[in-house]
Amino acid sequence: MDTLDNMFVSNWSNVHFSVPPSYVQPIENRPGKVISSSSKAIPVIDFGAHDHDDIAKQILKASEEFGFFQVINHGVSKDLMDEAVNIFKEFHAMPPKEKVNECSRDPNGRCKFYTSSENYKKDAVQNWKDTLTHSCPPSEQVIEYWPQKPPKYREIVRKYTQELGTLGFKILELLCEGLGLNQEYFCGELTENPALIVHHYPPCPNPSLTLGVVKHRDPSIITILLQDEKVHGLQVFKDGEWIVVEPIPNAFVVNIGLLLQIISNGRLIGAEHRVVTNSSTSRTSVAYFIYPSCESIIEPSNNMVNENDAPRYKSMTFGEFRRNFFNKGANIEAELLY
Ligand code: OGA
Ligand code: NI
Repeated sequence: MDTLDNMFVSNWSNVHFSVPPSYVQPIENRPGKVISSSSKAIPVIDFGAHDHDDIAKQILKASEEFGFFQVINHGVSKDLMDEAVNIFKEFHAMPPKEKVNECSRDPNGRCKFYTSSENYKKDAVQNWKDTLTHSCPPSEQVIEYWPQKPPKYREIVRKYTQELGTLGFKILELLCEGLGLNQEYFCGELTENPALIVHHYPPCPNPSLTLGVVKHRDPSIITILLQDEKVHGLQVFKDGEWIVVEPIPNAFVVNIGLLLQIISNGRLIGAEHRVVTNSSTSRTSVAYFIYPSCESIIEPSNNMVNENDAPRYKSMTFGEFRRNFFNKGANIEAELLY
C-alpha cells in the first residue's frame, strides 16, 4: 500500500478492522450516555411561516438557550442540496492521490485535504475523519483553487455556496432584529471570508472508543451545516448532558460560533458540540463557516454593553483570535475573557 493510502482514514479503515491506539479517546472523552428526549430537542424553525417577527423571536430564543437550531423551508432547493451532497461524496470516494492533487492549487494553502484535524501533529488523539476545505465566493478568484474533479464540482459548489451565503445573511438579519442591532451589522468585513468544510466519517469498528470530532466550539460567526439525512453523529453539550441533533431531511443545522458569542457579549451561546462515529454507515457533513476578514475587530458590540453589562471579552482582530484558537484549542475561552 502506498503511503497516501496509509494516511487517510477513509482508505485504511477499509482494510484494518480495529481502532489504532492513536484514535482511542481517554475515558472521560468517550461517547457515553446521550439523551434525545423531545423536551431537550434542538429547536426546529420554519422559515416558510408567515409571522416574520415570530421567526426572529424563535431564532433569538434558540440561540440564547441552545446556541443551535435547525431550519426548514429555508429556500435552498432540495435538488441543489442533493447535488451538493452527492458531489462531495464522490470527491471523498476518489483515490487519495487525486484528492490531494485536486487540493494543491491554492498558493494561500486554504484549499486542502487533510485527515483528523488541521492540527494533526499536535492532536493528542486523532479524529476519525478526513476533511476537504476551501474558501468560498464572494471573491470569484478563489474558485480557481477549488477541485476540478469530480468534473461538475466547481459548477455545483459555486451555486451551493452562493445560496448558503444568501441564507446566512437572512439568518444574521433575523438575529440582528432580535438583538436590536442594525440590520447591516454583518454585511461588511465580519462575513467577508466564508469557508466550506466537508467531513467524511467512515464506519468505525469500535465507536465506543473514538470520536469523529472532539468537543469544540466553532471559531465562526455562525456555521450552517448540512448533515447526512439518515446518519446520526452530531451532539450538542447542554447543561452537562449530550443531546443528539436528529437528522431532518432537507433541513440545515445552524449554530452560533464563538465570534458571535463575543459580539453579543455572551448573550448568544457558541455551544460545545462533537461528532460520534458508528460501525455501519459512513457519514458526510458539509459545514459552511461564516468567517470575518483577518483584520476585522472582534469585540462585544456597543449595543450589547451598558452600565449593567460590562464588556466580558477582550477586543482582538480575527487574525489574532485565529492564532489563539489554533494554539489553545479548547482552552481558548480564558484568553478571550477580561
Ligand atoms: C465542525 C463540526 C459537525 C458535523 O465542522 O466544526 O462540528 O456533523 N461538524 O460534521
Ligand atoms: Ni463544529
